[in-house]
Amino acid sequence: MKDKYILEMQNIVKEFPGVKALDNVNFKVKAGEIHALVGENGAGKSTLMKVLSGVHPKGSYEGKIIIEGKEQSYSDIKESEEAGVGIIYQELALVKEMNICENIFLGNEFQKMGIINWNKAMSKTQELLKRVGLDDKPNAKIMNLGIGKQQLVEIAKALSKNIKILILDEPTAALNEDDSENLLEIIRELKKQGISCIYISHKLKEVKAIADTITILRDGKTIETFENEENTSMDRVITGMVGREMGQLFPREEHTPGDVVLDVKDWNVYNPELPDKKAIDNISFKARKGEILGIAGLMGAGRTELMMSLIGAYGINKSGEICIEGQKLSIKGPKAAIENGLCYLSEDRKKTGLVLDMDIKQNTTLASLDKISSIFGINENEEIRVSNDYVKALKTKTPSIEQKVKNLSGGNQQKVVIAKWLMAEPKVLVLDEPTRGIDVGAKYEIYNIMNQLVAKGVSIIMISSELPEILGMSDRILVMHEGKFTAELDYKEADQEKVMYYATGGNLNN
Ligand SMILES: Nc1ncnc2c1ncn2[C@@H]1O[C@H](COP(=O)(O)OP(=O)(O)OP(=O)(O)O)[C@@H](O)[C@H]1O
Ligand SMILES: [Mg+2]
Repeated sequence: MKDKYILEMQNIVKEFPGVKALDNVNFKVKAGEIHALVGENGAGKSTLMKVLSGVHPKGSYEGKIIIEGKEQSYSDIKESEEAGVGIIYQELALVKEMNICENIFLGNEFQKMGIINWNKAMSKTQELLKRVGLDDKPNAKIMNLGIGKQQLVEIAKALSKNIKILILDEPTAALNEDDSENLLEIIRELKKQGISCIYISHKLKEVKAIADTITILRDGKTIETFENEENTSMDRVITGMVGREMGQLFPREEHTPGDVVLDVKDWNVYNPELPDKKAIDNISFKARKGEILGIAGLMGAGRTELMMSLIGAYGINKSGEICIEGQKLSIKGPKAAIENGLCYLSEDRKKTGLVLDMDIKQNTTLASLDKISSIFGINENEEIRVSNDYVKALKTKTPSIEQKVKNLSGGNQQKVVIAKWLMAEPKVLVLDEPTRGIDVGAKYEIYNIMNQLVAKGVSIIMISSELPEILGMSDRILVMHEGKFTAELDYKEADQEKVMYYATGGNLNN
């Protein structure tokens, strides 16, 4: 029997000024399947889904969208929802101050003439929460839920609209292993209920685990669509994505660590929201010139809090000592940290990493203005030159360095943050989840640049939840659990099991 397609997108063309984001894309999804959409940063995945969901309305693209045999042309998201399409964006969009029920039903069917039937909405919410495996109360506030649960609320919200096609754009980028696994399970469950799912992810292990079918996009074009069978290799996917074979994923180099540059002693920090609770519990460690120090741990272990507290951006009642190159410092905030050679690349690029309304070159040089300025002000030629260099080195996809950062794809925004801190060339560079949302090819380029910096004597501290990355790039690994270090491992003796053992609380001394 011929496969039944619930969705056909035919010859889709979508252009932005200077960018052909989609160049004649064909994409078909079978009824009740989980269809993974993969491709490099800027390949056009999110744009294709925004066309499908009416974010880019009719008239702003060319081509046809057919759902269950019927041609669609929506003016907005509402109309796509009526056709059965639900989308969960790369960045979550819930209102944190409101509760679950309000988030699900604001602007929805129970709202007639401005009045919401809350009783009906509450019991419907209960039902929806059950479907996504959440046992929280409908009146629980969003801000009190972890990010994994928020993701499930987004799905519940989509389900409230009777959708047939659920689009998830990098849903697990910020989730820990357990929450990711749980999410995949829910998606499988929804599939059993007949919902088709389009799944975008840079985590190929997940793609392998969950997809029935895989479509690869490259440079706005469909490269191929194939079934994900037992023996389908992810090498095929990688080759299709980056357009060449990738021999290895981690360019490990032997480093010879030099003098201690950062020395932290007896560092204690309390949680500003729970002042009785220690966020960082008597931590001491050293980072050397010319090494990559990996910090592993589960979400909530305190890795980000540790680094943020060192640059003066987190915590109360701090005690302990920070020395940089033997100088004892008292760092009052991020600016002072940068002046002392300690830079921190945040895991949350939107909040602290980028100015979205500024262009690539302004963002790139933001932390290094002194490097390109003289008494006459900023040397614009120099600003243009270095920004172009980083765009080339990291293969940032953009029509020019004058492009506003908000117009870049998620992964390409991340590359701009990275360029900003690489350019600052600090003594100690802390990278917090540097390759989140970054495609495999670009990851490799970032690792190469890390190696170059280390060769120049920079000390890199890398926080990452991706164990392969920690194991593949670090010289030395510290494992954190509940605000303490539970192990220090040389990369040669470290493996996945060992790190996980300590990350879940195993002890240094046994
Ligand atoms: N609003 C916009 N204005 C200008 N250009 C845009 C806009 N939205 C997307 N683009 C460009 O379209 C191209 C495709 O972007 P898209 O966001 O679809 O990529 P993606 O495959 O989702 O990448 P990622 O994996 O990094 O999220 C990129 O070159 C991007 O800069
Ligand atoms: Mg995207």
